[in-house]
Amino acid sequence: MGDKAGYMEIDEKVNRELLEFLDSSPTSFHAVANMKAMLEQAGFKRLLEGQAWTLEGGAGYYVTRNDSALIAFRIPDREFTGFQIMASHSDSPALKIKDNAEIEVEKRYVKLNVERYGGLLCAPWMDRPLSVAGRVVVRTGNGVATRLVNVDRDLLIIPGLAIHMNRKANEGYEFNMQKDMLPLFCGGAAEGGFLKLIAEEAGVEEKDILDTDLFLYNRMRGTVLGLDGEFIAAPRLDDLQCGFASLKGFLAAKPGHSAAVHCVLDNEEVGSGTKQGAESTFLRDVLHRVNRAMGRSEEEYLMALASSFMVSADNAHSIHPNHPDKADPTNRPFMNGGIVIKYSANQKYTTDAISGALFKALCQRVNVPYQVFFNRSDMLGGSTLGNISSSQVALNTVDIGLPQLAMHSCYETAGSKDTAYLVRVAKELYSSSVCGNGDGEYRLVWPEGQRE
Ligand code: CO
Repeated sequence: MGDKAGYMEIDEKVNRELLEFLDSSPTSFHAVANMKAMLEQAGFKRLLEGQAWTLEGGAGYYVTRNDSALIAFRIPDREFTGFQIMASHSDSPALKIKDNAEIEVEKRYVKLNVERYGGLLCAPWMDRPLSVAGRVVVRTGNGVATRLVNVDRDLLIIPGLAIHMNRKANEGYEFNMQKDMLPLFCGGAAEGGFLKLIAEEAGVEEKDILDTDLFLYNRMRGTVLGLDGEFIAAPRLDDLQCGFASLKGFLAAKPGHSAAVHCVLDNEEVGSGTKQGAESTFLRDVLHRVNRAMGRSEEEYLMALASSFMVSADNAHSIHPNHPDKADPTNRPFMNGGIVIKYSANQKYTTDAISGALFKALCQRVNVPYQVFFNRSDMLGGSTLGNISSSQVALNTVDIGLPQLAMHSCYETAGSKDTAYLVRVAKELYSSSVCGNGDGEYRLVWPEGQRE
């Protein structure tokens, strides 16, 4: 059904910016670098974990860990009531390049040795131009330093096997990660061309490279599609669509009575158990240091947590046009239908009736539609950040996401309208406070002058 008015100017602008952000963020390191640039441009000051923090009320700051996780915050003044947090993740499933990557095939081809990062869908990686990005760590005098690298051209391909050589290919194929997924790099013999190329691209001497974190990425750029531009498709929508929307809302928000915290963590796709993941102390450390730097006591910190709200924002499954039966029978989230609130009785998602209700109240205030996701009762779903992060910082948390298809493909599909919806709700979240004292009653509060 056509809906010309549906794909409006505001969505067009947000989507253009989102697609540019995705195109220039082939890895979590690049996503964080791009977020840093946006924050610097907006006047945010950089803090380092290894230096003492002196903070001023009203000012904005950011801090990174491992260059792949980032937390930005703005504190109104010493009397802030709590933390208003949106957390997303910077990583996406991919193929990671191993050390000594070159494998020669009969002196006629060189392919690269890779391993799986996260729960990727293999098939979409085949038969399309790929390239390499990540970081190299180089020797500097007595130490080491990091350089971002992105070989920004079509470089590699993982060729599929012809149907003539596997007549049963369309009846289901079991991919072998060590055999099927190795990308073709060049013709001829293995002569160390790969590391030479990476050194050149990173602007360093090959002999100075001590180690690398390099990933394959899909070269296909993001696009808008559908009869009336209803959909967007791009790599890494899970979860940079949420991370980007969170940052846009954060930058647009008016300071409220709470500390606004934009949080992007790494390694969600491999269980979050790293120093820069949701299971780490990163968020807790930052909230603690903010509290202390503002001259507040531990008692005030714990009171603030009781009066805080966290939105764990990680993309959600839309109803699939070819597989509508794969979803819950009565809760049917669709692309362009608004933000998806995720529930699970076993609390794989942290949403409960209170955090769900508070989030719905936020959406209603800015006229943003929301939908609800449950797994089919006979299907195991995925997991996300919210419940993992709760073991470090326990506060009212809701799990949400934007509806998408083909999650963990290297080219995913989402709705054209939904990014702008999340920007609006993020802005509202970061401008508001969820005031409570633990007795089960909460009040959403905005700074004076804003409509109630
Ligand atoms: Co995700």
